[in-house]
Formats: sequence, structure tokens, C-alpha cells
Amino acid sequence: LTVAVLISGTGSNLRALLEAARHPDFPARIVAVGADRDAEGLAHAADFGIPSFTVPYRSFESRDAWGEALGDRLDEHRPDLVVLSGLMRLLPASLVARYAPRIINTHPAYLPEFPGAHGVRDALAAGVAQTGASVIVVDDGVDSGPILAQERIPVQQGDTEETLHERIKPVERRLLIDVVRRIATGDLALTH
Ligand code: GRF
Repeated sequence: LTVAVLISGTGSNLRALLEAARHPDFPARIVAVGADRDAEGLAHAADFGIPSFTVPYRSFESRDAWGEALGDRLDEHRPDLVVLSGLMRLLPASLVARYAPRIINTHPAYLPEFPGAHGVRDALAAGVAQTGASVIVVDDGVDSGPILAQERIPVQQGDTEETLHERIKPVERRLLIDVVRRIATGDLALTH
């Protein structure tokens, strides 16, 4: 299974995938990394010799134009699966339509709780005793697609957004690697 990963930030989830895919028995290969800005995480692609590309959101007149350009770059690699891992941008419906349901996303909350760009901050503000991590199929909504995997994570006294997010990320990575493996082996079928 060939996989393209899209990021916006540090790419720690990307790095975990790259390390997992290093093992010859891992059934998926990362073939490209894309970003909507000059993301720090692109350095991981360079470290692993994986082609990368940047399609800067701010260079385009509209989300649709950006999505089309991003889709064209993805098409160059013809990935079987697109993984959004810290992409902090909503994909336009036209791009989702090109790849759905072969687009998955990691989210640092127990969806459908706390969707959107600030899932960690929102869980903390809500004062919940536990939040979670989720891997879902991307649809036209915001973190609203079918849930492929998720796990509860406790919120601890004195947690800040950073400490809570750092506790969530390792779980996201484990869930993401397992979901990619299960998609690659056909054990998990992607549906709209
Ligand atoms: C991850 O928690 C991801 O779910 C969220 O943003 C974070 C990105 O972290 N959308 P990184 O860039 O993978 O370190």
C-alpha cells in the first residue's frame, strides 16, 4: 500500500509512520509528504529520503484552488491512501471527492467529542476527566467521518494544553500505525 502524508506542523505522527514503515514487514510504504506551509515536519521526509512538496495555502485565491493544486501534487504519486496527520487545514470537498474514502485523519480527542482545530484545548476547558485520540475517515465535514480507531486518555490535575497533547500524541501514533497496517492488509475496509 502506498501512502502520502499531509502535515502542517512538527510531524511527530509522520515520523512515527516513517519509522514503522522502515521495517520490511510493514505492509505500507510512505511515498510522499506534503504540507500547506513550510512545516518543520518536512525535515522528517528529508531524513528518510521521501519526496516532499509544499502547497502554501496563502498563495492561492481560494480553498478550492489550493485544494486542486494539492490534489495535483498528490496525483503525481498516485497514493493508495492519504493520511492527514497534523494538517491544520480543512480540505475542500473537491479534493475529498478525489480521494474519498481513502483519506484518513488523526485527531487528539475522543470523537465525536471536541472536533475541530482545538480538540485538546476544548477538552481541557470543558473540565472532562478523560479525553482521547481518534483515527477517522475524512469526509466533507469537520472530523465527522466514520471512526476507525479511538482510545480514552485521562486528563490529569494541572494538565496544560501541551502536557495533555503530549500524552495524547503517542496514543495517536500507535492507533495510526495500526490503522494503516490494517488497511494495507485488507483487514480494515474503508467506506464512505
Ligand atoms: C496531532 O495531535 C494531530 O492529531 C493534530 O495536530 C497534532 C499534530 O502533531 N491535528 P504533529 O505535527 O504530528 O507533531
